[in-house]
Amino acid sequence: MQKLEVFGAFKLKGQVRISGSKNASLPILAGSLLSNKKIVLKNLPKVKDIETMLSLLKSLGSKIKISDNQVTIDNSNQNKKFASYNLVKTMRAGILVLGPLLAKFGYAKVSLPGGCAIGTRPIDIHLKALSKLGVKFKIYNGYVIAKASKGLIGNTIKFPKLSVGATENLIIAACLAKGTTFLLNCAIEPEIKDLVNFLIKTGCKIKWVAKRKIKITGVSELKETNYSVMFDRIEAGTYLVAAAVTEGKIKIQNIKPDIINTELNILKKIGSKITIKKNEVQITGSKQIKSLKIKTAPYPGFPTDLQAQLMVLLCKANKNSIIQENIFENRFMHVAELNRMGAKILTRGNKAIIKGGINFAPAELMATDLRASVSLILAALTAKGKSVINRIYHLDRGYENIESKLRKVGAKIRRLN
Ligand code: UD1
Repeated sequence: MQKLEVFGAFKLKGQVRISGSKNASLPILAGSLLSNKKIVLKNLPKVKDIETMLSLLKSLGSKIKISDNQVTIDNSNQNKKFASYNLVKTMRAGILVLGPLLAKFGYAKVSLPGGCAIGTRPIDIHLKALSKLGVKFKIYNGYVIAKASKGLIGNTIKFPKLSVGATENLIIAACLAKGTTFLLNCAIEPEIKDLVNFLIKTGCKIKWVAKRKIKITGVSELKETNYSVMFDRIEAGTYLVAAAVTEGKIKIQNIKPDIINTELNILKKIGSKITIKKNEVQITGSKQIKSLKIKTAPYPGFPTDLQAQLMVLLCKANKNSIIQENIFENRFMHVAELNRMGAKILTRGNKAIIKGGINFAPAELMATDLRASVSLILAALTAKGKSVINRIYHLDRGYENIESKLRKVGAKIRRLN
């Protein structure tokens, strides 16, 4: 099994070009199933989750051509409606093919999802909302077997809770439903806006009619499309923290800074110097890091996907900090490993109390989920000496070329087989 070896502690300096967003690419790839025409996607990140989604599409009958900087999808003969456990088990976003398959065929059999071990991660909101479009479900042998014998029929649906995946699944499904669908209490993550922009470009009729309300008028056919996926805001946030925690200076390129306003303001608040340009942000980390009390929240709040990374930074603050995790119930698995490196973090329910003034010590570590893995790298970058991180396959699900990007800014990091 592959491992990463990290030698700290060096200040990171230079430029990092941010890749395309994994979490926007996944629903866009699922949404491509709606169309029988050629779709060309650019800026998809080269990460495992995208490979898995492309394999899932192939298993459903999509023809996919991958070249250096674009993926061409031809669904003119796409006719399979079965998403197997093998493909959905490692990646929760596999459930996003349920909506488009139902919209297209009125039938789908999709494995219940796996993904990170950060909570129970149910799909009840997806299923309840789809049932309002006329879908009947059975759960059998770990699969959702879904049928809409009269096809999908538009309706007004209010989500009981903000859910990124359920909002995406329903937006995609409603695009081919008969009549009009109103979705209320929608999640408004930038990746959802990117999905909507892609679908509109393919000929779907979608309109944001209020902050969290979408109107979708069903259409029967879509057009050929070329689309370039947005930047990965979580990758951008991770490199911002990497600069801050090593007291380095990095230019984060190929981004839209206003999308990560919350993150930039928090980094400013704790002492980093931030200079914002059109498609780029420069961050200079400070020796003095101020403590913080913060909660994760749906967009535009502070993202749960950056909670583990921020925690590493707060271990170096002048006083104790508190992070409250409000999205997933079991997302403190990095805490035990960070404590093995000398951190003093106490968890009480969904709160982590983080002692400041810590100097991390190197250690042999075990990665547990995607964002936890990267938090261990961040801590290792500041620990004097050699750390080894095991089980890095989690990391490869979501970070493109992380070692080479980090090496380019001066980190001493290598992959061992
Ligand atoms: C997406 C992101 C993930 C991010 C999360 C929250 C992708 C591929 N993944 O995950 O990186 O951490 O948004 O920003 O985009 N829930 C239910 N029932 C459901 C669906 C969700 O109870 O049917 C709960 C979840 O357990 C969680 C909360 O709602 O506690 C939010 O989950 P959701 O927004 O759906 O996250 P994902 O779409 O899975």
